[in-house]
Amino acid sequence: MISYSGFKEKILQLTAIDLSSYKEKQMKRRIDSLIKRYGASSYSEFLTLLEKDKSVFDTFINHLTINVSEFYRNSVQWDVLRADILPLLLADKSSIKVWSAACSTGEEPYTLVMNLSRFIPLNNIQILATDIDKEAIGKAARGIYSEKSIENVPPDFLSAYFKKTENGYSIDESIKRCVTFKQMNLLRDEYPTEFDLIVCRNVMIYFTDEAKRIMYQRFNDALSKDGILFVGSSEQIIAPRTFNFKVLRTFFYQKM
Ligand SMILES: C[S@@+](CC[C@H](N)C(=O)[O-])C[C@H]1O[C@@H](n2cnc3c(N)ncnc32)[C@H](O)[C@@H]1O
Repeated sequence: MISYSGFKEKILQLTAIDLSSYKEKQMKRRIDSLIKRYGASSYSEFLTLLEKDKSVFDTFINHLTINVSEFYRNSVQWDVLRADILPLLLADKSSIKVWSAACSTGEEPYTLVMNLSRFIPLNNIQILATDIDKEAIGKAARGIYSEKSIENVPPDFLSAYFKKTENGYSIDESIKRCVTFKQMNLLRDEYPTEFDLIVCRNVMIYFTDEAKRIMYQRFNDALSKDGILFVGSSEQIIAPRTFNFKVLRTFFYQKM
């Protein structure tokens, strides 16, 4: 019989996901509910199941990573990005380097492309989009979405860039071409650098304060001079100056 700490160690070996960096109460509750769903009576029994059955393993990863996303999520913040942040970043440049960190199934980087296309032509847009979850990235690259997920897409973009198919709304190749997807673990892998804008939303809420502090510093290092970090609606940074950030607007932090 193993404890939750033993389980975390084993998961780290099996998946490279360090559960110790995720808020324990929330994560344990999610894991326990999944274990119950599979009818396992202990962490050891569930681990045996995980190792034996690839579909259980995939469901577990999916359950851990929480891939919920949508286009123009919390749309008011995208309005701020378009009205204030992008004009500032593009004031003396014809293109910018952008990273969507923890991009899930692609709604966020594609929303970025659409917003940027209000300022610069699509062939000048190139966005890096990363997530720990391979399956989510695969879905992002396919670019087929439900009606619910595209609810907030402006009508002109909807008619220009989405086609209704029998599986859902398929996003146009011209938008897809602007995004490069890559698997990356924000807690472990080296961060790419020299970004003008990093968007990291609705993932830091799952991490411990210690993990968050390390990530803020690493995001700061990954930005170029005056670069901006855009965070999710419940993810304001406490004491941003500690990490060399100043508040530009709520949810937008500029490297000092
Ligand atoms: C709720 S989604 C957020 C998606 C999008 N950013 C948004 O705001 O709509 C959280 C994403 O974080 C990813 N994630 C969780 N832990 C991660 C880690 N250690 N490194 C990279 N991505 C991670 C999950 O796979 C999931 O796709």
